[in-house]
Amino acid sequence: MKAAVFTEYGPPEVLQLKEVTKPSPKDNEILIRIYATPVNFADTLIRNFRAISPRKFHMPFLFWLIGKVNFGFRKPKITILGSEFAGEVEAVGKDVTRFRKGDRVFGYCGPRMGANAEYLSMRENGVVAIKPATMTYEEAAAVPYGAIMALNILRNINLQPGQKVLVSGASGGIGPAVVQIATFHFGAKVTGVCGASRMEYVKSLGADKVIDYTREDFTKSGETYDFIIDILGKSPFSRCRHSLTPNGRCLYVSFKMKQVFQMLWTSMIGGKKAVCVLVNEKTEDLIFIKELIEAGKVRSVIDKSYPLEQAADAHRYAESGSKKGYVVIAIRS
Ligand SMILES: NC(=O)c1ccc[n+]([C@@H]2O[C@H](COP(=O)([O-])OP(=O)(O)OC[C@H]3O[C@@H](n4cnc5c(N)ncnc54)[C@H](OP(=O)(O)O)[C@@H]3O)[C@@H](O)[C@H]2O)c1
Repeated sequence: MKAAVFTEYGPPEVLQLKEVTKPSPKDNEILIRIYATPVNFADTLIRNFRAISPRKFHMPFLFWLIGKVNFGFRKPKITILGSEFAGEVEAVGKDVTRFRKGDRVFGYCGPRMGANAEYLSMRENGVVAIKPATMTYEEAAAVPYGAIMALNILRNINLQPGQKVLVSGASGGIGPAVVQIATFHFGAKVTGVCGASRMEYVKSLGADKVIDYTREDFTKSGETYDFIIDILGKSPFSRCRHSLTPNGRCLYVSFKMKQVFQMLWTSMIGGKKAVCVLVNEKTEDLIFIKELIEAGKVRSVIDKSYPLEQAADAHRYAESGSKKGYVVIAIRS
């Protein structure tokens, strides 16, 4: 089968179209013919992981170390990227009961990666579900990572209708799903924070208000929120606390040890809290997300799609700072 393979860390050009062995499903696995796979934050990070120092990494040192052990210090151990996908079940192992040949599916294979290829094998009890009927393969492929993160974050805070949420990082991989699920599923009032050129995009996702972080510091506006969800961990708690309601919480999706200590400290006292978020992906969450999509509460906006042989161009565009929506590698239509 064909796959976009990288054997050295580096710029997008390290991705090369190659012929590799087609996987064969084990007894408890399904073989998926991949139709589409997006280029997300993890893909561009791991492709260039050698250049990522603990300082540049958005999470604590231990997570960086685990990443280096998993993906390789000098050379990539996992040579095919792609952690989300949509496609069709081509074959099933003899013990598989959840899926049949021909099922249209979407899913998340996480740090195992491998979806930048014509085929992927996956355990049937992995994070894979029947694709929403209302979405194309490209649209569905772009949903799982962001929506699973968003659903987990919002469920854990027990978000109530009418509560005010600010999402800093509203235009990336996770933010758009947080904006939509908070607005349309939980009934919250959402303010999105993103760069100037993506304000219209974030507004179109249902945000009540959008702030351009290059022009306005939301922590100085005097406005307060029940929850501030900081996707990249850009806003220090010392500043965010002024923008929280008396029992408000600032949730860090990316964090360093400083925020971990702030979480421990604020958990011991009343009032405003810093919370570091860790998300566990579950199959049942993806099944629920399919229902949200079919109910019209979550959509994905595809900015550009590229064929597999142009995976390097897809990465270049994803990193260009120009995208308004998701960048997808369309392997089959
Ligand atoms: N805790 C967990 O379990 C978990 C799981 C997965 C991922 N993560 C973390 O999530 C992060 C990736 O999230 P993602 O995929 O959504 O990233 P992404 O696609 O790169 O999106 C980043 C977003 O941040 C915005 N942004 C950039 N600079 C900003 C600033 N100064 N102020 C406010 N917003 C700013 C960008 O806006 P513009 O593009 O409009 O400039 C964009 O909306 C990583 O750090 C990763 O480690 C955490």
